[in-house]
Amino acid sequence: IIMKVIVTKSYEESCRAAANEIITQVQKKPESKLGLATGGTAEQVYPFLVDAYKEGKVDFSRITTVNLDEYIGMDPDSPQSYRSYMACRFFGPAGIDAANTYVPSGRNKAEDEIQLFNEKLYEDKMVDLQLLGVGVSGHIGFNEPGEKLTAGVHIEKLDESTIAANSRFFDSPDDVPKEAITMGIGDIMKAEKIVLIATGENKVPVMKALLTDDEITCKIPATMLKMHRDATIVIDAELAKAA
Ligand code: GLP
Repeated sequence: IIMKVIVTKSYEESCRAAANEIITQVQKKPESKLGLATGGTAEQVYPFLVDAYKEGKVDFSRITTVNLDEYIGMDPDSPQSYRSYMACRFFGPAGIDAANTYVPSGRNKAEDEIQLFNEKLYEDKMVDLQLLGVGVSGHIGFNEPGEKLTAGVHIEKLDESTIAANSRFFDSPDDVPKEAITMGIGDIMKAEKIVLIATGENKVPVMKALLTDDEITCKIPATMLKMHRDATIVIDAELAKAA
């Protein structure tokens, strides 16, 4: 395994470390194209980026961004949408023009949105750095475990475990959308550099599969990262010890 693993003292330090990878990337290449992630784990990465921006350490005005995924049926204007998540946690406070960002819409006709997603992913440049979280199911983006994985942008049926895990962001599990539009595994793997952040007891089995076992399996999609040339996994000591 050639993955780089950064073990930190705490989740907060993991967020700082992941943010530093992004800051370094943008300092090195101000017109970087960033692949971004939502979810509870990535949430605390963004304040470190916003702080660095406010302190004048990094300028995000020339970056472009593409997000991993969105729930099908989700209105981009809804406070639960990943567009809203990104706008209030990162784009707005870090001075990023919305025109330079793309978060898939869960409201558009699927084939139109898939086409647009592909244009945003591949027109003029490739993703320089992709930030990832990981699901309890082992998903990256919303690529759920199964007999096979999908390379390109597609609509994915969410795993029961994902619906259960993400129900904390909704009034009830019944309110969690059942499908999502997501980058495929091939799209994710095309990023120049990948930074995955994980924390918490419920991610132990997935991190064991990623860091301890030598297997690559569609049943745990995150294990595909073992084939990436430049993947960095950021975890806290507690998770590292358990995995
Ligand atoms: C979410 C996102 C993923 C994210 C993962 C982890 O549902 N679609 O991109 O990486 O699941 O979520 P969390 O960090 O909340 O555990």
